[in-house]
Order: sequence, then structure tokens, then C-alpha cells
Amino acid sequence: PALSLHAQDGLLVEEVPLARIAEVVGTPTWVYSAGTLRRRARALKRALAEAGLRASIHYAVKANSNLAVLHVLAAEGLGADVVSEGELRAARAAGIPASAIVFSGVGKTERELRLALAEDIAQINLESVEEAEMLSALAASLGRTARVALRVNPDVDARTHAKITTGRSENKFGIGIDQAPALYARLAIMPGLAPVGLATHIGSQITSGMAAYRAAYARLAELAQELLARGLPVLHIDCGGGLGIPYRDEPAPLPEALAGAIKSTIGPLGLPVMLEPGRWIAGPAGVLLASVVLQKQTPSRRFLVLDAAMNDLIRPAMYEAWHGILPVSAAAAASPLSPADVVGPVCETGDTFTRGRALPSLHPGALVALLDAGGYGAVMSSTYNMRPLAAEVMVDGARFAVVRDRQSQEALLAGQRLPPWESD
Ligand code: LLP
Repeated sequence: PALSLHAQDGLLVEEVPLARIAEVVGTPTWVYSAGTLRRRARALKRALAEAGLRASIHYAVKANSNLAVLHVLAAEGLGADVVSEGELRAARAAGIPASAIVFSGVGKTERELRLALAEDIAQINLESVEEAEMLSALAASLGRTARVALRVNPDVDARTHAKITTGRSENKFGIGIDQAPALYARLAIMPGLAPVGLATHIGSQITSGMAAYRAAYARLAELAQELLARGLPVLHIDCGGGLGIPYRDEPAPLPEALAGAIKSTIGPLGLPVMLEPGRWIAGPAGVLLASVVLQKQTPSRRFLVLDAAMNDLIRPAMYEAWHGILPVSAAAAASPLSPADVVGPVCETGDTFTRGRALPSLHPGALVALLDAGGYGAVMSSTYNMRPLAAEVMVDGARFAVVRDRQSQEALLAGQRLPPWESD
């Protein structure tokens, strides 16, 4: 959406030519569109409001935790869903108030829980009786009361990639819906805890329609009703994230559909709801800009070797994910297409972005953009093969700025040392 092709300047993000960013910042570089982030945050808010829901959005920081990204979303009034001390600190540093922060995750450490209590964040989503006991003891010893929600595993099949489905009973997440009533009643009498609601999250990149969402929310609503009937406090329902985006030609569920699914299931309770979307907001707002190192022709295949690799964008290697790939120059975009394997320089065959993709012939130095890389892109990168973390750039209208420096070679080695017995 924020991408366009200009006859001279080639591919633009908003009003900034990607070629200009490559010239100034080099490649590989992540490029984010502030306008797209704002538009998507607003579209989600509008869909929820138009369905008549009282809703708060807690952006899942794991999708993209760049401070500049968080800052744009904070200015749109979004809260945060965090899963680590680092994400909690990033959200606070970007100006998201503690009162709008939810802490999720199956293994929060005592140190993380202490910080969450000290910051007095809005809610901690508990995933097990063991965790409830740990938090209760800690909060009581600190003289605090933690607002907690119980994350319920509704045992539904979100029909997404096995590595990112979370709502089946065999997954590690949440508490089984059958155990939930008893545990919720216990939470209400455990020292240091104040149960405030229920939460669920059934998986990510959900594109198979609303059936799984509706099934999960219907179970949650029924459970909430049962708890309320027993006089237990249920103040709101956290509906999780998971809304998919069309990387290729998947049928893309719209936020209106999700709002409708919530309205028809949880709506009758009349309670406020919370959402934890990550990918839907950040994914389409970013591209990974890379250069062609060389084009290699073997007897059977054409390989485009990029200076970006699986250590930068791991989704294709990890989930067989499809990302659009576009040449940046207008001339290349108009050239004849033939199949190419697009790969990185990392020393394993899994370092393949795509196979047999229709692309023009590209000379060394030509630029390409890997699309929909704003979510689960930079955040999942590593320094495998001693490759520095790529730079990150924010575009806003005609302006752009580096919002994270490219890691230097010095920084890659920093912190390492020989054991003292080797250095005499
Ligand atoms: N809430 C909870 C508790 C979650 O575990 C997640 C994602 C979200 C919200 C946000 O889900 P989203 O709206 O972004 O789908 N690395 C994978 C995705 C992993 C998602 C993990 N949990 C990928 O690249 O596809």
C-alpha cells in the first residue's frame, strides 16, 4: 500500500525512493512506513468501534520492537502486549504507559514478574497454576496486588503453520478450559492476586476465516458467564492476536470480520475487550531492502544471490513462508521475467528466500525489496555466519531516518574475550 513504482525513481516507500535509502544507508536495510503503521492502527480501531465494541489494542511488541515503530503506535493510543523484560522496557521507553501494558508468555521469570509489579502494568496473563503460585508469593511478599487474567487454551485448530499454532490442547500455552473454573476461583482468594478477566490466543497468521476464532471466543464467553454466575470478577476479555495478512494471494481476513466474530460471541457479555495484534499492524509496514551480490547460472537453475540472508529474514527458512520480491529499479521492473532461485550467502541450503520465482535478470548491485517484512523480520534476525544485524530506517512522508544503526564489525566481536589462562 505505501509502496509505489515511479517511472524514474523506481520503487518508493511513501515518497522516498528505496534507491536513495540504499545509497545513504547501504544494504541490507529494513525500511518501515510510519504512514502504513498509522493507517493500520486506525483501521483496526475503526473496525472495533463500528462493531460497537469497547476495545483496547495492545500491540504485540514481539512482531517489531523497534523504538520508532513503538513510538508511532504509542502516538495512535495503542498499548502493548509484551513477553519479556526487554519488550517491557522497550514499550515504556517508547512512551507506552504501564497502565496500557499486558504481559503474556508461558515462562515469565521472577525477575520479569518483579519488574511488572514494580511498574504496576495493567495485567499479567497467567498460563498455569504453577505460575499463579509463583506470582502470588512474590506479590504478597512485596505488598502488591497483581491484576491477572487467566489464559485459557480453548483447544481449537486455527489451521495455520504447525510452528505458530497455540490453541490446541497439546500446545504448551494456557490452561485447559476444563481446569479454568477451579483455578479462576482460586486466583480470587490467593494473596497478592486480583483476577480481572480471561485471555486466549489461538495462533498466528490466521487466514482460514473466522471459524476458529468464533469457536474459541464462544468457549471463552461461556466460561466467563459461568464465572460471573459464581460471583467471580470478570472485568474484560483479552482476545489475543493472530489476524493474518496476504503474503501472496491468501484470502485476507479483514479487521471487520474479527470485530464481527468478537461481537457475535463475546459481545452479549457487554464487557470491554482487549486485542493483541502484531503481524497485522507491522507486517505490511516494512520491507527488507537488499542488493544482488551476483547472478549465478548453473546448468539447471538461475540463482540470485543477495546480501541479505536467512540470518536477516528467517521466515522462509523456518516456516516455508512466501514473501513478495520486487526489483527496485523501474527498468528492471519492466524487463522480461524468468524463473530464479533467490538465496542468501549463508552456508546452508535452507538459506533460500524462494525457488523458481519469476524475476528479471539482475546485475550485481541491483536492488530488490522483500515485502511484508515489517513483522517478525528484524526481531528474528541473528548474527549467524558473523553477519552484522542490518540497519533499520523509518520513512514518514518525504522524510527518512536511520532508527537503528547497522551493527558494526567491532560490535560483532565486542564482549568476547579469551579465558585468562590463554593470555600470558
Ligand atoms: N499474543 C500472544 C500471546 C502471542 O503469542 C502472539 C504471537 C500475539 C499476541 C501476536 O500474534 P500476531 O497478531 O502477530 O499473529 N514468528 C512467527 C509468528 C509467531 C507468533 C507468536 N505469537 C512468524 O514469523 O510467522
